[in-house]
Amino acid sequence: MSDANSHAGEAAATEVRQAPILSVRDLRASYRGPEGMIPAVRGVSLDLYPGEALALVGESAAGKSSVALATLGLLPSTAEVSGTILYEGRSLLELTGDERRRVRGGEIAMIFQDAMAGLTPTLRIGEQIAEIFLAHERLDAKAARVAAVEALRPLLPDAERIVDAYPFQLSGGMAQRVMVAMATALRPKIVIADEPTANLDPAVRLETLDWLERLRDQGTAVMLITHDFGVVARLADRVLVMYGGLVAEEADVFTVFRRPRHPYTYGLLNSVPGVMSGGRLTPMRGNPPDLATLGDECAFLERCPKAVSRCRLEASPSLEPASPFPGSDTPAAPGHRVACFNPMAVDLRRER
Ligand SMILES: Nc1ncnc2c1ncn2[C@@H]1O[C@H](COP(=O)(O)OP(=O)(O)OP(=O)(O)O)[C@@H](O)[C@H]1O
Ligand code: SF4
Ligand SMILES: [Mg+2]
Repeated sequence: MSDANSHAGEAAATEVRQAPILSVRDLRASYRGPEGMIPAVRGVSLDLYPGEALALVGESAAGKSSVALATLGLLPSTAEVSGTILYEGRSLLELTGDERRRVRGGEIAMIFQDAMAGLTPTLRIGEQIAEIFLAHERLDAKAARVAAVEALRPLLPDAERIVDAYPFQLSGGMAQRVMVAMATALRPKIVIADEPTANLDPAVRLETLDWLERLRDQGTAVMLITHDFGVVARLADRVLVMYGGLVAEEADVFTVFRRPRHPYTYGLLNSVPGVMSGGRLTPMRGNPPDLATLGDECAFLERCPKAVSRCRLEASPSLEPASPFPGSDTPAAPGHRVACFNPMAVDLRRER
């Protein structure tokens, strides 16, 4: 993490915040599986504030995308969802189909990992962008096409040509830029970016991060889903570490990189090249739990090097404010919360 980012993290931790634009409480989502319902999200709460980037990190199957899809009402119709999701105080889970479509794209936009898959193969790019304006801004077809060209121009100088192209005629980088243009065409208040930099070449990756950073700096709230700690360090103000459908730890980015308290967060950082100091890269042992058979014990128990008898005897610990760091006379960072009976006490800055 750069020094600039460290300072941003510290500032974010002490800032007086306005009201969250998105508030999720006790979100649960289960998918229908061959042998019953599979709980993918098991009680997640989070707040997203205007002008911040909140990163959801964790290994595969942690439930990160499911949180995003539930927020946008994009889970399969067979999924069961409960809890509350408030967007500017309005309950997203209770919206009608039409109301939800208006919010989606217009006020909350999503960019997906695979830009090409997010485009309709049989429609020209211009038609796809124009559809957004037709649906949300009631422009006529001609005005919508002009708006589509204008939306593309900052990202693709030859916008007039691109609007007439079909998705298969675009490179991966161009498709990503089109996706970005579509996601921001209506100046949404929230952008949810699910692995926005995966599979991109370095130049487009950097461009995508610059774009997300600019959006955030202009006041858009960004929910960033990623495996990449480089992206977290570059962009995130706060981090939610997810494991087994739950939040294991929540803190400002500075605290997560310096004093992670959950053994899973520590393990993740320890297994990523370039995050910890040289020579001590240790892949995390074991695999994420099978959600279909997981009991109510701590989901990380089987892999945890810090497990104590309490972890085996009691139900999974809830997410609580972190205690002051051992040996430190300063209180825990504001908003630092951890779900663990026996938290870590390693100061990674001193370790370096
Ligand atoms: N449509 C679906 N039907 C059944 N199970 C699903 C479906 N989508 C996701 N799951 C399961 O839900 C769990 C959480 O998946 P999710 O995609 O939310 O995780 P993730 O943290 O985004 O993982 P990744 O980093 O791999 O994208 C996984 O066990 C996954 O197999
Ligand atoms: S509660 Fe116990 S098993 Fe779970 S992460 Fe903490 S120490 Fe490990
Ligand atoms: Mg995912």
